[in-house]
Amino acid sequence: MLNLLLKTIWLLIPAYTPNNFAVVFGGGTPIDFGKNFIDGRRILGDGKTIRGFVCGVAGGIFCGILQFNLEKLFGVALFSSLAFSDALVLIASLSLGSLTGDVLGSFIKRRFGLKRGQAFPFFDQLTFLVVAFIFACFSSPFFSQLFTLDVIVVALVLTPILHLLTNYLAYKLRLKDVPW
Ligand code: CTP
Ligand code: MG
Repeated sequence: MLNLLLKTIWLLIPAYTPNNFAVVFGGGTPIDFGKNFIDGRRILGDGKTIRGFVCGVAGGIFCGILQFNLEKLFGVALFSSLAFSDALVLIASLSLGSLTGDVLGSFIKRRFGLKRGQAFPFFDQLTFLVVAFIFACFSSPFFSQLFTLDVIVVALVLTPILHLLTNYLAYKLRLKDVPW
């Protein structure tokens, strides 16, 4: 069980870390360029920036490559059970999917009239993960080889808990304005 837990967290690092990189390196021009949607509300809001998106995806891929090499070094075979190029496709689609899901989550939040940073339980914690899985599932023929059903179930249960914990930490470190 502990093994499954650790394996799940390890496999999800390329999907988890993009948001942290976005928090740290984000800012500047918003992805929606400050524009409103037809409902008169912001399309995405100031919390979704181009720099955050690009740095986030790059950061997630960087972590994944680091993991691949650490696995080789310590004789673990998860990402490194694949050829490097296949692992890279899987890692990149998890990172890109994660932040695309994050953008989609904000789009949905704005349509519900929620302000930037306002909490949207479950959506805040799971949209990014579900979209990351969908992206990875369609981009990599090796997705199901690593992300078995038990891993996916643990991921869906564990993620809201981890997400709340890390956001609280980012808030305490004054990286975020609100603890969610
Ligand atoms: N961030 C960014 N660009 C992104 C994603 C995140 O710059 N594509 C940065 C922003 O500074 C953002 C912070 O990371 O405020 C936290 O991200 P998140 O919680 O996803 O955004 P919120 O500000 O809560 O906005 P929303 O209500 O739209 O989720
Ligand atoms: Mg938020």
